[in-house]
Amino acid sequence: MEKGKVVLAFSGGLDTSICIPLLREHYGFDEIITVAVDVGQPEADITRATEKGRKLADKHYTIDAREKFVTDYIFPSIKANGSYEGYPMGTALARPLIAEEIVKVAEKEGASKIAHGCTGRGNDQLRFDFIFRSAGYDIVAPMREMNLTREWEICYAQEHNVPVTVAKDKPYSIDENFWSRSIEGGNLEDPAFHPPEEIYAWTVSPKDAPDVMEEVRIEFEQGVPVALNGKRLPGIALIQELNQIAGRNGVGRNDMIEDRVLGLKARENYEHPAATVLLAAHRDLEHLVLTRSELAFKHIVDDKWSELAYMGLVHEPLFYALNAFIDKTQERASGFVDLGLYKGSVRVLGRSSDLALYSDDLVSFDSTTIDQNHAVGFSNYFGLQARLFQNLKRR
Ligand code: ARG
Repeated sequence: MEKGKVVLAFSGGLDTSICIPLLREHYGFDEIITVAVDVGQPEADITRATEKGRKLADKHYTIDAREKFVTDYIFPSIKANGSYEGYPMGTALARPLIAEEIVKVAEKEGASKIAHGCTGRGNDQLRFDFIFRSAGYDIVAPMREMNLTREWEICYAQEHNVPVTVAKDKPYSIDENFWSRSIEGGNLEDPAFHPPEEIYAWTVSPKDAPDVMEEVRIEFEQGVPVALNGKRLPGIALIQELNQIAGRNGVGRNDMIEDRVLGLKARENYEHPAATVLLAAHRDLEHLVLTRSELAFKHIVDDKWSELAYMGLVHEPLFYALNAFIDKTQERASGFVDLGLYKGSVRVLGRSSDLALYSDDLVSFDSTTIDQNHAVGFSNYFGLQARLFQNLKRR
């Protein structure tokens, strides 16, 4: 039997709620401290976690990490065009931050172990464990260790006065923060099943979106979005407002088969209106300001960055090195991009930057600045080796 204090990563959902009596009765800890970390979940979820934590645990903390999430996780991800198989990684990006905040409480409280409610099937267990183990903590994961079923959990909760809020008709597991809303479970687990309209909360169906295109202008400074439609906004406000605008135009739905770290394929549904728009805008701006070589190389860097971010390996030395490269390129990623949102689609309409590597004088049909005759010499040697190879065949 364990003794002493344990700090539990707490969301207020069924799994983490029954962890409290389990840690007490089954594991034998004398003091359970719950920590809920706010990264932009719905306010009601944070309130629920706070109330439940206070009621069920010996001590509870709710930590506001919203600002840090946007500045230290979402912004770097925009700079890296962060996307794993097409998923902007809202859940993945938030996990290391949540874990770091929990470690701080564990240190302050002198806890002997850290507990979480992740199952043994998903990615979150790995993302959390990595941070907790890096900080030197042993981990207790009742859901993973005890192999429990939903039914058993509900009975156990009722026996232990733990309020149960899972509705039978809406059996979805939802994870939400500023960057994305993920919906899993229930009949969605059949990849052939068409997602019903009821799973969406941030986006209207493209078929119900307005019949006129809505235009937005995003302004970037060094790869970071700083203004929306000419209005300078702090990160949280910018993302929230853009989630509204893009969401009402049906932009940002994503239904995909995702390769989890363990190798399992999972059917995932996401909504991420602001992420869809900001990533499209940022990618486009980079094409205006970076060289062809930089773009090609950064593509590889962005991919690797996203893979590490997806796994939650944010303290892998390679991750630091990739960030250093990305930051260097973003020194020139300033300017604005105009986009049109229309019935679920987003399209770049125009872009501009003082640092553009673009010269209309050089490229224009209407200018004689370039002496086109100079291209004849260039063309003489163009594809030389391939032409020599083709000549061999003619011999
Ligand atoms: N598959 C995503 C990830 O691993 C999202 C998981 C979200 N969890 C949930 N219970 N809906 O990052």
